[in-house]
Amino acid sequence: MERLVQAVLKSPKYGNVSQDLVRNIGRHELQKQRNLKLAIKATKNKLHQIGGAYFLKKPEYGAWLKRLKETKSTGNEEAFRRTCAEIMSHHYSTRERLEFLDEFYAKIFALTPPVHSVIDVACGFHPLAIPWMPLSERVEYYAYDVYKDLMEFLDKFIAMTGVQGHAEFCDVVQHVPDSRADVAFVLNTIPCLEQIDKSAALRVLESINSGFLVVSFPVRTLGGREKDMRKHYEHRFRQLTEKKDWAIQRLEFKSELVFLIRK
Ligand SMILES: C[S@@+](CC[C@H](N)C(=O)[O-])C[C@H]1O[C@@H](n2cnc3c(N)ncnc32)[C@H](O)[C@@H]1O
Repeated sequence: MERLVQAVLKSPKYGNVSQDLVRNIGRHELQKQRNLKLAIKATKNKLHQIGGAYFLKKPEYGAWLKRLKETKSTGNEEAFRRTCAEIMSHHYSTRERLEFLDEFYAKIFALTPPVHSVIDVACGFHPLAIPWMPLSERVEYYAYDVYKDLMEFLDKFIAMTGVQGHAEFCDVVQHVPDSRADVAFVLNTIPCLEQIDKSAALRVLESINSGFLVVSFPVRTLGGREKDMRKHYEHRFRQLTEKKDWAIQRLEFKSELVFLIRK
């Protein structure tokens, strides 16, 4: 196991990934694969599928922070948003959402009471959309993902927006964050969690300490094909939640299917 963890963390693409996650995936792959070399390869493949594949270019967090600070300091909120949008375009999930950001939050937050606190699970670049969210003035925002460098970047970004809260490195399959919030985002993430552990998705939805969960699924493959994904993920979501007495509302967007759960 130690040799597998060291080999995976040595690769430039996964050097910033949570060691807990590498161990968790590695443990399964060491049991499944014939030898260490194959287990290392399979662990990297899985890390690619659940996170690495979504980056459209190598992140330039230092340069991005500098640009964000510069535009923020001009006081021009429109320019600040443009910079956020440009950065979001480098991550597949947020890039797909850029076209309908205003509509997305308007429709979701119309169905919730005023929001004073948010949890963003497996957040990717999503906190960069904070300037589009109709949140209350003293909102607290807690974001979690498995990349250390991304979390350091988002922690500084959150501070820059004037919002309270932080971004923290966390493998939510092994540890569901225990902070409490009015709304929790679990966007485009269930298929990734289920690739690590089939029972993880329901456990995460059940354990998140929030009255409202915004759960979404992509409706296109990373290659851009639709392939009945809307039907497939709707079926999976209904299966996952069939034994729960949660109130569920469904919202459709161009490239995303959203379920708002009220626990
Ligand atoms: C498809 S992206 C979605 C990103 C974001 N939620 C959005 O919709 O814009 C999936 C994200 O889940 C993260 N992820 C995968 N497994 C995770 C885990 N076990 N714990 C926390 N985050 C995880 C990946 O790093 C990636 O950022």
